[in-house]
Amino acid sequence: MNLNKEQLWQYNREGWMHLPELFCREEVDVLKGELPKIFAMRREEVWREKDDEAVRTAFAAHTYNEAFARLGRHPRLLGPVMQLLDGPVYMHQYKINGKAAFNGDVWQWHQDYGTWARDDRMPEPRAMNVALFLDEVTEFNGPLYLIPKSHKQGIIEAGHDTLTTSYPLWTLDRQTVSRLADDGGLVAPKGGPGSVLLFHSNLVHASAPNISPWDRVIAYLSLCHVDNHIRRFKRPEWVAHRDFTPIEPLAGDCLLELA
Ligand code: SIN
Ligand code: MN
Repeated sequence: MNLNKEQLWQYNREGWMHLPELFCREEVDVLKGELPKIFAMRREEVWREKDDEAVRTAFAAHTYNEAFARLGRHPRLLGPVMQLLDGPVYMHQYKINGKAAFNGDVWQWHQDYGTWARDDRMPEPRAMNVALFLDEVTEFNGPLYLIPKSHKQGIIEAGHDTLTTSYPLWTLDRQTVSRLADDGGLVAPKGGPGSVLLFHSNLVHASAPNISPWDRVIAYLSLCHVDNHIRRFKRPEWVAHRDFTPIEPLAGDCLLELA
C-alpha cells in the first residue's frame, strides 16, 4: 500500500494522517480475541493503572503473542511508514494501550521523540507511530488529542513526570501547550475498529481519562529507520527494543490465516 501525493503532503504539513477502516472486522477480531489472555498476564511487560487492575499498556506483545507478532510485520502498517521514513525500519517500541472503560487514565501532553531522544539517545526524529484502533474511538472513550503542525517545533522543553500515572513520561508545561494549540488547534481523530492513525514522533499529543463505559484499545507500533537506532540502553529491552534488524513485511492475509 502506497500513500499518494496528497496524503504525503498532508502528513508533512499536519504531522498526522488517519486511514479509516484499513483493517477488516475479521482481522480486528483475531487481535481482539487475544486481548483477554494478554491482559490477564501478570508479567513485567504488562503495566497496570494505579489501581493495579486495569491494563494501561502491554509492552512488546509482539514478542509473546503470535497475532500481535504478525501485526508487527503487517504490510498495511509497514508500507506507509517505510515510505514516510524512506527506508527499512525496526521496531523501537510496541504497545497495546488498554484505556479501559471507567479506569483508563490520562496521558499527559508529550512528544514521543522527546522521550526517545532523552532516555534512549535516538539520534533523530526519523521514527514514527502507527496506531491501529481495536475498538471504536469516539469523543467519549479517551481519543488521542493531537496538536497539528507541532511536529515542526523540534524537541520541546519538558519535565520528567514520574508521579501522575504509572508510566513515567517527559511532559510539556501548560503554557507551551496553550501556545502550540493557539497555532495549530486540536484534533481528536475518531473512527471504527480497524482504522489506522499515523503520526510524527515530534507531534505533541495526549489523551484524557476514559470515564465512559466503553474500552478504547489501540495498538501502537513505534518504528524507526534502521540507521537511526537508539544509542543508549537505559530502559528495559521490552520498552525500548535493541533488535535493529530490518522488519520484513509478511503477506497481506497474515492475520486472516489465524481466523
Ligand atoms: C501514547 O501517547 O503513547 C499513548 C496515548 C494513548 O494511548 O492515549
Ligand atoms: Mn505518546
